[in-house]
Amino acid sequence: MIKVKDLWKSYEQKEVLKGLTLDILDGETLVILGRSGVGKSVLLKHLIGLTKPDRGTIDLDEVRITDLYGTPLYRAVHDMGMLFQGAALFDSMTVEENTGFYLKQHGNKETGKAYTRAELGDKVAEALEMVGLEGTQKVMPSDLSGGMKKRAALARLIVYRPKVLLYDEPTTGLDPMTAMHINELIVKIQKELQGTSIVVTHDIISALFVGDRLALHKDGKIAYLADPDTFIKIDDPEITFLHKIITEDPRTLKYNNNHKDT
Ligand SMILES: Nc1ncnc2c1ncn2[C@@H]1O[C@H](COP(=O)(O)OP(=O)(O)OP(=O)(O)O)[C@@H](O)[C@H]1O
Ligand SMILES: [Mg+2]
Repeated sequence: MIKVKDLWKSYEQKEVLKGLTLDILDGETLVILGRSGVGKSVLLKHLIGLTKPDRGTIDLDEVRITDLYGTPLYRAVHDMGMLFQGAALFDSMTVEENTGFYLKQHGNKETGKAYTRAELGDKVAEALEMVGLEGTQKVMPSDLSGGMKKRAALARLIVYRPKVLLYDEPTTGLDPMTAMHINELIVKIQKELQGTSIVVTHDIISALFVGDRLALHKDGKIAYLADPDTFIKIDDPEITFLHKIITEDPRTLKYNNNHKDT
């Protein structure tokens, strides 16, 4: 269980997180929806310990990771993995080197021992096969399509078999069919690793496909959190609009808002 309590974070004059509270249950896929710039990536970076809040706490099981730095923090979050927004592959490394990067660096997470070349090769091949990229070991990231890059990044994430998986916009920028393939992979990975997944997205189709529970991040907080059927009927302008996207003729769509931030 991950307990986020009253998290506050400002950058310069801008308050991004304003008392955000959220419980993430073991074994679930929780989807966080929200408009661009609301602070979804900032929240994920707090969850994995890359960023510290100004105030508030995050407990990963019984460990208060917001109090930890350096090696103890690294140990506490070693079973977490993140798919960064935009894939973030290392451009100068092949797909194989990218996929095996963390394994090579950290070795076996149970024993701490380094993997042999053969073991690394097998694990990388298995992960690439799982995402449908078998045989691409020697390819450079610049020669992959956008969808293949995302899948290579997924392979790099799952090869380490993390128990908590954070996905930042896994389907953004992909055509709808490729996006659906990624959604299917997220569900498949969840079944295989039996972990906890947190998926940040503005793609309502993806959210409904992968999510056990859906949350809306708005005004620095989690404004709503519910099962998909309940969530999609919530009377809120953003959710109503998302609902319309999947139920109405796009030619009739309008988003009536008086927000200054569009
Ligand atoms: N390191 C940083 N320094 C300064 N400002 C930052 C930093 N990281 C994030 N921000 C600001 O925090 C706000 C939220 O950013 P964030 O990337 O979390 O948005 P997001 O919800 O993920 O948006 P998108 O859906 O477009 O990815 C933005 O205004 C951003 O400029
Ligand atoms: Mg983001």
